[in-house]
Amino acid sequence: MTVDFDALRRRFPVLERKTYLNSGSYCALADTVRDAFNAYMDDRLAVGANWDVWITKNEAVRTAMAGVLRVTPDEIAVTASASAGINALASSLDFKGSRKKVVVSDFEFPTNAQIWHAQERRGAQVVHVPRAADGYIPLENFARLIDEQTQLVAVTQVCFRNGARLDIAGITRLAHERGARVMVDCYQALGAMTVDARALGVDFAVGGMLKYLLGTAGIGFLYVRSELIRELVPHNSGWFAQQDIAAMDITANRPSQSARRFEAGTPPVINCYAAEAGLKIILDIGTEAIETRVRALTRRCLDGLAGMGWPAVTPADDARRGPMVAVPSRDAAGLFGRLQEQDIVTSFRDNNIRATIHFYNSNQDIDRFVAAMAAHRGQFGPRS
Ligand SMILES: Cc1ncc(COP(=O)(O)O)c(C=O)c1O
Repeated sequence: MTVDFDALRRRFPVLERKTYLNSGSYCALADTVRDAFNAYMDDRLAVGANWDVWITKNEAVRTAMAGVLRVTPDEIAVTASASAGINALASSLDFKGSRKKVVVSDFEFPTNAQIWHAQERRGAQVVHVPRAADGYIPLENFARLIDEQTQLVAVTQVCFRNGARLDIAGITRLAHERGARVMVDCYQALGAMTVDARALGVDFAVGGMLKYLLGTAGIGFLYVRSELIRELVPHNSGWFAQQDIAAMDITANRPSQSARRFEAGTPPVINCYAAEAGLKIILDIGTEAIETRVRALTRRCLDGLAGMGWPAVTPADDARRGPMVAVPSRDAAGLFGRLQEQDIVTSFRDNNIRATIHFYNSNQDIDRFVAAMAAHRGQFGPRS
């Protein structure tokens, strides 16, 4: 089946005005996602509180999220953020035995490192896998630090700083051989690439809906492999985590038998509306088609930048790259501002300009970005 990406592009009004290369920060808003927000408002005006429908929205997000990750809905907790998912998971682990080690990498988004460091008060020992001289983190570097004392490897799939993609299947094989479990933070990958949690073999996955999943802030997920759910009892809990939400029992904590035990309180209803609509777009297109297009666009961007003498720091190898091209600059903040003035929306980290690319971007977007970068090369170009 061929996908009409030009028609899809027209469903994101901001693309008429902007060269929008910022999906790794916040996605462009789709027509159906805006309609979903409005549907919630209409509901509030017409009926006030519509809990019977609202609860089904949370379940719809769970089911769609399971579809994107290719797992079952019972393995998905719908959370308020990736951080909420990681915290709930952390609260179900203990670090009193011989496996005290949590292995994270130099590529982590801060929240994933900070939350595991917060467990040091509970006995955890956090170690960081360093990058190699070429800036990438190869499997050997994980092999050196994952051992019989390791309880968990908590690692990002795509680095938010430079767009490098780690070998999650390889890391998971290694960790499992040594008796450790793996949590992947796939926030910077999911929606722009196929992330098949079962095929990767990971035990846990976290992310959120505001980037490549086309939804909104204030909603995320935690995937827990079904075989592990019953043995993990989170200390973080709440009434929506109970086996019977309606029981209103104040005498005990009776966690749900599903991954819902990692949830807490009232779901973010309006965010569920938006997330459901965003996930539907991704599922309708299919992540294979999206990944193929995004790979071609990132390749075009890398080639264009290299061709005019300003190479990116993002790996050129397709297998080691996510939906981002990061370009080192002498003054990324200044360059970001100049690009903004030209209606080219990017972001920056570590003095890298980040062009984060989704299926709704086009060759023209990439060429416009590369041409603007060429024009600014003299003033803002590569660090020597
Ligand atoms: C890789 C990654 N993990 C986690 C987060 C933040 O997650 P949250 O704010 O939902 O806790 C981000 C946000 O940019 C991210 O890029």
